[in-house]
Amino acid sequence: MLELRSLHYQAATAPEPVLRGASLTLRPGTPSLVAGRSGSGKTTLLELICGLAEPQGGQILWQGQALRARQRRWLCGLVFQFPERHFLGLTVGQELKLGQRRLPSERAEAVLRQVGLQGLSLQQAPERLSGGQQRRLALAVQLLRDPRVLLLDEPTAGLDWSVRDEVLELLGELSRDRVLLVVTHEPELFAGRVEAGHSWRLEQGQLVGAPGLELRQR
Ligand SMILES: Nc1ncnc2c1ncn2[C@@H]1O[C@H](COP(=O)(O)OP(=O)(O)O)[C@@H](O)[C@H]1O
Ligand SMILES: [Mg+2]
Repeated sequence: MLELRSLHYQAATAPEPVLRGASLTLRPGTPSLVAGRSGSGKTTLLELICGLAEPQGGQILWQGQALRARQRRWLCGLVFQFPERHFLGLTVGQELKLGQRRLPSERAEAVLRQVGLQGLSLQQAPERLSGGQQRRLALAVQLLRDPRVLLLDEPTAGLDWSVRDEVLELLGELSRDRVLLVVTHEPELFAGRVEAGHSWRLEQGQLVGAPGLELRQR
């Protein structure tokens, strides 16, 4: 269980705080969702959770224990918005190996299977993959670290509807044995996929429960 307790954050160069007492409890087993308009602080929230930034107030706890930024970097895997823009490997295999001292081919195959890319050639260039495959590859790179908390920034942005559905389907599976948090400015796409009590809105620096998302028709 991941708990955010009254987080306060203001970027050094920003005129106003982004978070003003944001609190949240996330559990594994089902996807959690934070919705908010552009500029509301969604990406900032993920950066704080995964230890790329430190809040000026409040606490981030895992299983009841407050964690420092360095510990959170171990705990969490963050998939950036448009992760395919950050691919560094010349091949799928190289991309998977970044940050891994050694990667047995069985492990690479297992993680590709986990994201529905089974049978994909490790020699393939990442930029030759389809948009949906590239998102899955970015997920696979994080899954290799086996993070207890998986954070996804706008995972459906820029995908067309057919591919989007595949990615959404995958989120349910990946949340089964880890905390999975999605932030998005288009929560309607997730209707029917997020259980009651697992969605919030980020408004004026605070997180408020967003009931009803699970009831809407897709
Ligand atoms: N490094 C930074 N320095 C100054 N302001 C920032 C910085 N990062 C984000 N902001 C500001 O913080 C607010 C929240 O940004 P962000 O977390 O990117 O929102 P979202 O992801 O919801 O679109 C915005 O007003 C943005 O301009
Ligand atoms: Mg953002």
